Amino acid sequence: MLARRRLPRPIFDYIDGGADDEVSLRRNAGAFTDYELVPDVLNDVSETRTEIEMFGQCTRWPLMLAPTGLTRMFHGQAELAVAHAAARHGLLYSLSTMGTTRLEDLAQAFAGPKVFQIYIFKDRGLTAEFVARCREAGFHGLALTVDTPVAGNRERDRVSGLSLPPKLTLKSLFSFAVHPSWSLPALTGSKFDLANVSHKVDALASGPMSLFDYIGGQFDRSVGWRDVEWLAREWNGPLAIKGVMTPEDARRSIASGATDLQSRRAPTGWCACPGRSDCGGTRCGGRCARRDLRRRHSARLRRGEGVGTRRNRLLDRTPLPIWPGSGR
Ligand SMILES: Cc1cc2nc3c(=O)[nH]c(=O)nc-3n(C[C@H](O)[C@H](O)[C@H](O)COP(=O)(O)O)c2cc1C
Repeated sequence: MLARRRLPRPIFDYIDGGADDEVSLRRNAGAFTDYELVPDVLNDVSETRTEIEMFGQCTRWPLMLAPTGLTRMFHGQAELAVAHAAARHGLLYSLSTMGTTRLEDLAQAFAGPKVFQIYIFKDRGLTAEFVARCREAGFHGLALTVDTPVAGNRERDRVSGLSLPPKLTLKSLFSFAVHPSWSLPALTGSKFDLANVSHKVDALASGPMSLFDYIGGQFDRSVGWRDVEWLAREWNGPLAIKGVMTPEDARRSIASGATDLQSRRAPTGWCACPGRSDCGGTRCGGRCARRDLRRRHSARLRRGEGVGTRRNRLLDRTPLPIWPGSGR
């Protein structure tokens, strides 16, 4: 409600909306109500811990802030505002390739655990460049998004008149005008830019719109498992596949060199690959509860037990333990 009041309609719809009739969006959000918390009674809970390890890093909570493209549209400080929120709460932060902050600037401002969300572009050299830059900047992991070979048909954006980069159209003018707290900083604040790829277009000596054309033209529908193997070799570090939805694809991800999985669809969430990135207490002074939790989850899954029923339906055919997480 607060966001709806504060943001011009096209911006709110970009964040809040889904594809077509938003059936999947409603189902995914609604799926969280299917969760039932089944307590293990008569366990010693005098000391509880919420720490978990993701991408080889201990975080205070089993949560992460997922990557969002074009964050400058939502907040004057763009990705840095979100990263600072992550830092305040001890969460993992992920920066989108389509972010409006340079990954180097983000890494400099945010010392906490951070992941870069990457794509395998038609120009594999561009992807390899991201890998090298992330390594140099000190990112702890990569998350390869695999569920956007084609862009969603976002009808709300068509109706509300959202354009990229944001422009005042007759349709959206009124909504921008009645939200000066958003519009004025947007007009006067930092430049709206796909900061991580703009140098490519500068090199091509083209105008600002062609930046979006350039990146739009880089999405590669032919990407396959061999490309994942290639990326895993290039990066040689914690790598999540973002957008996996079936146990078969989960297995193929791990077989192709991924160490973690990230699912958009609630309530699947995060799976941590056994034995790959357990810090064993070395970086968190023994407070990391992950190994213990994982062992308990694995045992329960082997026995066909567990928490959320949908989650089990997905998992009863896979040996991977799963952590609660995000999904849309
Ligand atoms: C406004 C917005 C922008 C997003 N941009 C990206 C993106 O650039 N790359 C990506 O992999 N996922 C992107 N996502 C998907 C999120 O990272 C996340 O997977 C999804 O929102 C599910 O998590 P949630 O249920 O917590 O929203 C975006 C989501 C939203 C709402």
